[in-house]
Amino acid sequence: MPVDMRESWWIRDLEVPTRVVLAPMAGVSVQAFRRQGRRFGAGLVCSEMVSCAGIEHRNERTLGYLRVAGDEHPLAIQIFGSDPVAMAEAARTVAAAGADVVDMNFGCPVRKVTKTGAGAHLLDDPVLACRITEAVASAVPVPVTVKMRRGVEDGSRACLELGPRLVEAGASALALHPRSATQMYTGYADHSLTAELVARVDVPVIASGDITSHAKAQAVLDATGAEAVMVGRGAQGNPWALREIVLGDAGPPSREEVAAELIHFVRETVRELGERRASSFLKKFYGWYLGHGRFPRPFKQELVQMKSTDEVVTRLLAAAPGAAELVEQIPLAADEVLLDGLPISIYGGG
Ligand SMILES: Cc1cc2nc3c(=O)[nH]c(=O)nc-3n(C[C@H](O)[C@H](O)[C@H](O)COP(=O)(O)O)c2cc1C
Repeated sequence: MPVDMRESWWIRDLEVPTRVVLAPMAGVSVQAFRRQGRRFGAGLVCSEMVSCAGIEHRNERTLGYLRVAGDEHPLAIQIFGSDPVAMAEAARTVAAAGADVVDMNFGCPVRKVTKTGAGAHLLDDPVLACRITEAVASAVPVPVTVKMRRGVEDGSRACLELGPRLVEAGASALALHPRSATQMYTGYADHSLTAELVARVDVPVIASGDITSHAKAQAVLDATGAEAVMVGRGAQGNPWALREIVLGDAGPPSREEVAAELIHFVRETVRELGERRASSFLKKFYGWYLGHGRFPRPFKQELVQMKSTDEVVTRLLAAAPGAAELVEQIPLAADEVLLDGLPISIYGGG
């Protein structure tokens, strides 16, 4: 029997309502992205990786990543670092901010991160990886999970040795992106390793990598025994992919739907980051969104060159007048849970 993508599953005592998890993506997974992901059927959404050193030093921008809206739950906030004590402290802050899950990044391949002993470096340092997991799991009441790659070098199977040890150290679920750190995003995700990991641990495994359709999600769940799939690049500017992966029979969006979602996303992001940061952050999203809805090719370039997000919204409404009514139907942000003591200026963006 194929797995029903709309069926719930559990991370320890946390119920996750569908089998689709929205991946953590640095520079992408802002609150607007996560809220949209939940609306389109993701059962669990994740923040981008948040620096534990940034939390420790109460860096304003870092703390801004810890804003949690009422309608994001269940939400995982992902932290990265290499010092068990600092990671435990960061986990406490993250749980206090409202995260339902504290996720740890043991997979980031970027040198700036690995040279500090964090991210994918930990795949090569199982003793430290386990010490961090133990420290974090005993610091917070919420479940702690780890997201990892297969190993550092091509062909590595380090995740299979490390996974069971992390579970013993307190991890309540593991997400595996079965590419090596060296591979970055080349080649393909080898989900035969996901199946091997599932066989070795008694906690849920989440399969990450190259999941872009219902058929692929179903095939990976069936072949691996993983509890859920994680969707990253496939959902960039394309929340409809999440709907299709969950429901199986959802058609492509109309031009009006694409414009309405993009307008809502622009407004939410401005509210979150402030106009100045949002307008540069959003540029990559224009191309991602406008790959749908049959917009003329030069339209994307036109949006990228606009000076303000108000101009972008006006131009989108001109190109798809029916979008105005659809935008009105998208629910507005629920009340946010704010963390005591955070500097108020971050909420104004800037
Ligand atoms: C732009 C971008 C940023 C990412 N940032 C993170 C991150 O902060 N933390 C993390 O664990 N993985 C991160 N990843 C990896 C994704 O979560 C995911 O594992 C990977 O993209 C494979 O899944 P996909 O084929 O569905 O994109 C990132 C990926 C991309 C493309």
